Amino acid sequence: MLLRSIEHIQETMEKHRYITDRPLATIIYLSQILEKPILLEGQAGVGKTDVAKVLAEVLETKLIRLQCYEGIDISQAVYEWNYPKQILRIKLEELGSGSKETVENEIFSESFLLKRPLLEAITSDSAVPPVLLIDEIDRADDEFEGFLLEVLSDFQITIPEIGTIKANRRPFVVLTSNRTRELHDALKRRCLYHWIDYPSFEKEFRIVTTKIPGINELLARKVCNFMQAVRQMDFFKSPGIAETLDWATALVFLNKDDLDRDTVEATLGCIFKYNQDIDRVKEGQLEAILEKSNAVQAG
Ligand SMILES: Nc1ncnc2c1ncn2[C@@H]1O[C@H](COP(=O)(O)OP(=O)(O)OP(=O)(O)O)[C@@H](O)[C@H]1O
Ligand SMILES: [Mg+2]
Repeated sequence: MLLRSIEHIQETMEKHRYITDRPLATIIYLSQILEKPILLEGQAGVGKTDVAKVLAEVLETKLIRLQCYEGIDISQAVYEWNYPKQILRIKLEELGSGSKETVENEIFSESFLLKRPLLEAITSDSAVPPVLLIDEIDRADDEFEGFLLEVLSDFQITIPEIGTIKANRRPFVVLTSNRTRELHDALKRRCLYHWIDYPSFEKEFRIVTTKIPGINELLARKVCNFMQAVRQMDFFKSPGIAETLDWATALVFLNKDDLDRDTVEATLGCIFKYNQDIDRVKEGQLEAILEKSNAVQAG
């Protein structure tokens, strides 16, 4: 087995700088045993996409990514016929004396296919199966979700001109969703589900010190306390781990090792991405958050 145990997953993912708590490591372990896709949901910037990237690094295998968006269809997700190559083949044949039927068979064979992520993942013959990341599935429409359901049930794809292509070995599949809409129960049923929450102070502190090795420990604590306090409050958009890392990195570059009002005000754009949130902080919440985060620090 490639991923030997839950502890092994935690250790190796941490070596690749991803802090994995036990529930997530358990889901990854089970997905390998049950050969089921993982569905990760959570707010923006909490580390969903990174799970697939780091898993591919840990397994030393290819990451095949399908970024979903409104209107995505089979030609972008599964396959497309290579029209220029087909036309060229037809033109060449016109110069020769081959039969029409032979050319037709040939131009609708596998070598005239352009493989898109789903077909690439299913036909992969690498020693270790690839990691297939189906990112932000909630952005795709219902019809595409229905199609995906079929693929993830049998790990096979039917191309009318060729027939059914079945995976020799199932890829590791990670789906992510920001939950901008509910996914269908039928899709969820085929997956192992895990909600990635905002991190605890301890987890966020470990992430910051792992990702920004040179950071002053005290500053890292203050930043994490500040972010924990911010997430307790009511903002239009709470910041994720991505924002914490951006902010901490910015502070290091600015040679700051303490959080004072001026520094925080000048760097609020690393934390908040909505004007009304920045205004709210400036208009009264900032002192309270600073006091709270510094008090926790002192304790
Ligand atoms: N547990 C973790 N350990 C280490 N780094 C983390 C962890 N969680 C998140 N990060 C870091 O936070 C940043 C955001 O992560 P990622 O892009 O995976 O979030 P996401 O949930 O996919 O966000 P979005 O919904 O915006 O796509 C990345 O730089 C990632 O490395
Ligand atoms: Mg993402």
